[in-house]
Amino acid sequence: MILVTGGAGFIGGNFVLDWLKVPGNEGIINLDKLTYAGNLATLASLKDDLRHIFVHGDIGDQVLVTRLLKEYQPRAIINFAAESHVDRSIHGPAEFVTTNIVGTFNLLECAREYWSGLSASSKNAFRFHHVSTDEVYGSLSATDPAFTETNSYEPNSPYSASKAASDHLVRAWFHTYGFPVVTTNCSNNYGPYHFPEKLIPLVILNALNGKPLPIYGDGQQIRDWLYVGDHCSAIREVLAKGKLGETYNIGGWNEKANIEVVKTICIILDELKPRIDGKSYIDQITYVKDRPGHDRRYAIDAGKIERELGWRPAETFDTGIRKTVQWYLDNPVWIEGVVSGSYRDWLSKQYN
Ligand code: NAD
Ligand code: DAU
Repeated sequence: MILVTGGAGFIGGNFVLDWLKVPGNEGIINLDKLTYAGNLATLASLKDDLRHIFVHGDIGDQVLVTRLLKEYQPRAIINFAAESHVDRSIHGPAEFVTTNIVGTFNLLECAREYWSGLSASSKNAFRFHHVSTDEVYGSLSATDPAFTETNSYEPNSPYSASKAASDHLVRAWFHTYGFPVVTTNCSNNYGPYHFPEKLIPLVILNALNGKPLPIYGDGQQIRDWLYVGDHCSAIREVLAKGKLGETYNIGGWNEKANIEVVKTICIILDELKPRIDGKSYIDQITYVKDRPGHDRRYAIDAGKIERELGWRPAETFDTGIRKTVQWYLDNPVWIEGVVSGSYRDWLSKQYN
């Protein structure tokens, strides 16, 4: 077994689905708190797959995590669970500290205890893979080189500060206890099952619903976009071949200004689902107040993972964004559940 945390979220959900598509792969215990960002509809296709065991719970719950490790004896933990939205972290940072820092600390401690009791061969094989973000490195100017793994940590938002803190804990558990960790720092993901509070799904759904497409500030902030399936394949590579104690940057070699991303989506929608009035979705673009402390540019140098592990993204931005827009057009039921909030009914059905 492997233990995945946060596997009902956007990236964790894609990871679980991709992993279980491979017939020979081991089963997954999926521990997820089902916050607003957790959505079991994403995993609906696994309803009858006995290799997927879903557990509703918190990575900060020591009793639960200890029990799961003892019962299922996983050979690896992949920690996706987090509060992940920068804007939410500005309005309410407490949950980010609780889950991203204290939760990761608890997971590390429970896992270390479990790992200490393993046989020598299981101990050697065990991995704790921590999924992190490029935002820990701070903001780049237009001319700075892209982030490498040796960049210093300069987080600027409560979200990135909480992720940076968790990365430091993971690093310290390796150096102090010899606990077998790897960390990956990835750039902005996009793709299927993305909760529509983040830029790309928000713009697709707002466009289709005739709503404004909000651009923060001047729209010239740059992100390095990676298709989520490529992030999942990189994690599989690092889990299989990554060197213990190392960090690997993962990115798409796809730097784009936000306004360019939004216009690209509008042009694809103009082609695939034209507005009934014949106008372009670009007309719905609206400039709004900037995000406080908004980082100007992120860019990942993904050279190390390519040199050492042979990983490169399969999708370009053009192919990935087209697939993504098409996915949102093809999956009205998933979208309706998210937009109406009915995806959360599962909780009351299951636990009342
Ligand atoms: P998400 O917000 O879509 O999903 C997070 C999941 O974690 C949800 O299912 C949620 O219910 C679960 N969760 C939250 N708190 C929990 C807790 N205390 N215990 C158990 N489960 C909990 O996030 P995402 O976009 O899928 O990101 C996954 C990971 O990847 C995060 O660690 C994030 O920092 C990192 N990351 C995200 C991106 C991106 O572009 N989305 C890029 C790089 C790194
Ligand atoms: O870089 C990796 C990070 O990418 C991850 O660690 C985070 O979990 C993930 O949420 C993402 O963070 P961002 O803040 O970059 O993503 P978001 O989609 O919120 O915003 C992308 C850019 O678009 C950012 O510059 C802010 C801008 N934006 C966002 C929204 C929601 C807008 O202009 N308008 C919007 O309405």
